[in-house]
Amino acid sequence: MDKTPYSIRFVGISGSLRNGSTNTALLTAVRSLVPEGVAYSQAGIGDLPLFNSDLEANGPVAAVELFRQQLREADAIVIASPEYNYSIPGVLKNALDWASRGKISPLQNKPVAIMGASPGPLGTVRMQMHLRQVFLFNNMRPVNKPEVFVSQSSSKFDAEGRLTDERTIELIRQQMNALYDLAVQGKD
Ligand SMILES: Cc1cc2nc3c(=O)[nH]c(=O)nc-3n(C[C@H](O)[C@H](O)[C@H](O)COP(=O)(O)O)c2cc1C
Repeated sequence: MDKTPYSIRFVGISGSLRNGSTNTALLTAVRSLVPEGVAYSQAGIGDLPLFNSDLEANGPVAAVELFRQQLREADAIVIASPEYNYSIPGVLKNALDWASRGKISPLQNKPVAIMGASPGPLGTVRMQMHLRQVFLFNNMRPVNKPEVFVSQSSSKFDAEGRLTDERTIELIRQQMNALYDLAVQGKD
């Protein structure tokens, strides 16, 4: 169903930088599961320097400016991330820390959806709860339901890394619809 009287853009962020990441593979699946007409692109976070307010005070950092611009231009953010040590991977937290800065953070009031894949039984539950605290501080608008926890991830992708688990595919589709609804709120 084409839901788009509006032009809506989603931007994806993966919390894993490795080639063959199952979380980046979730974002590849997202590309075809967004409502028809939604423009989806991905923002890289691997080139961002470690946050340092001395660096920030020295003037704009090109990689940071590009990242912040990508977030600003997006109507909503999709985060797919692993859980590291029961929490948010450092690369993702670093990216969110950079994005949270400035007079007007591109995170403020932004709709956001989270999903995560893990080989373990809980599918990134603890990481996702920590991300929700970051969203609260930044006055973001998270999709609450459905939650997407991809547990036992090795059984959910094929040999080429494509998401094959039907239940997860359907949940992501529903979550992207909910994200779309948040993104159009206020556009009327
Ligand atoms: C530093 C580190 C910490 C990890 N901690 C957790 C953890 O707390 N919970 C968990 O389920 N998996 C943990 N893992 C395993 C990751 O879930 C697994 O490596 C996952 O496949 C990474 O996602 P990716 O495929 O997108 O790279 C950890 C992995 C690393 C490298």
